[in-house]
Amino acid sequence: MAKKNIAPTSKFITFEGGEGAGKSTQIVLLESFLRDRGVNSIVTREPGGSPDAELIRTLLVSGASNRWEPEAEVLLHFAARHVHLKNTIWPALERGSWVLSDRFADSTMVYQGDGLGVSKATIEFLYRFVVGDFVPDLTFILDLPVNIGLARARARSGDEDRYESLDYAFHERVRNGFLSIAEAAPSRYVIIDGEKGIDEVNEMIVNLIVQRFDVE
Ligand SMILES: Nc1ncnc2c1ncn2[C@@H]1O[C@H](COP(=O)(O)OP(=O)(O)O)[C@@H](O)[C@H]1O
Ligand SMILES: [Mg+2]
Repeated sequence: MAKKNIAPTSKFITFEGGEGAGKSTQIVLLESFLRDRGVNSIVTREPGGSPDAELIRTLLVSGASNRWEPEAEVLLHFAARHVHLKNTIWPALERGSWVLSDRFADSTMVYQGDGLGVSKATIEFLYRFVVGDFVPDLTFILDLPVNIGLARARARSGDEDRYESLDYAFHERVRNGFLSIAEAAPSRYVIIDGEKGIDEVNEMIVNLIVQRFDVE
């Protein structure tokens, strides 16, 4: 499955980080910043982001933390991602919209790779198969201590707690996994201090967007 003709002005921006880091809070603030400057964007998320992919999401984010073998879990994430790319992300980029995604493939590398021990080579292979040579233009990694993120996430109500309920060491591996991905490719990633207040984090994000892209 190949991406088609992505409009030259479209951008694909992803938000990554652990539970409670502020991804969902920040992504809508960026959308509204862009809208005020005449840039159309859509906000989407993984797993999910299209009606069928959201059905797969339910299987991944709820239920017992050990309900899937890690290998099956990786395949479900990539199945959902295939649908999401085809039905939501690529069509939006082709019509000239920006796409802001609350998680993307870095989460698979870190949660199922560093967190659950699936080999990185397997995840890279599946990436090539499903996503090809398409990569985000920019990825924000919202970073903060695990205990703070988990406390924030647990204070929020909801039944999407399958990953939240994994142990502390898992979340430490996730945090360190994101940091090492970012350090290995500094041009594509920006690490943001997620412990700062909501407005301050938003300011850091919009400053970076203005620096990197043609937005005023
Ligand atoms: N910078 C921040 N400081 C304090 N609380 C925050 C901050 N950003 C988000 N929150 C709160 O923490 C909780 C988790 O934020 P959320 O954006 O849902 O995180 P994520 O999507 O990364 O799991 C929410 O209740 C949110 O209002
Ligand atoms: Mg969220």
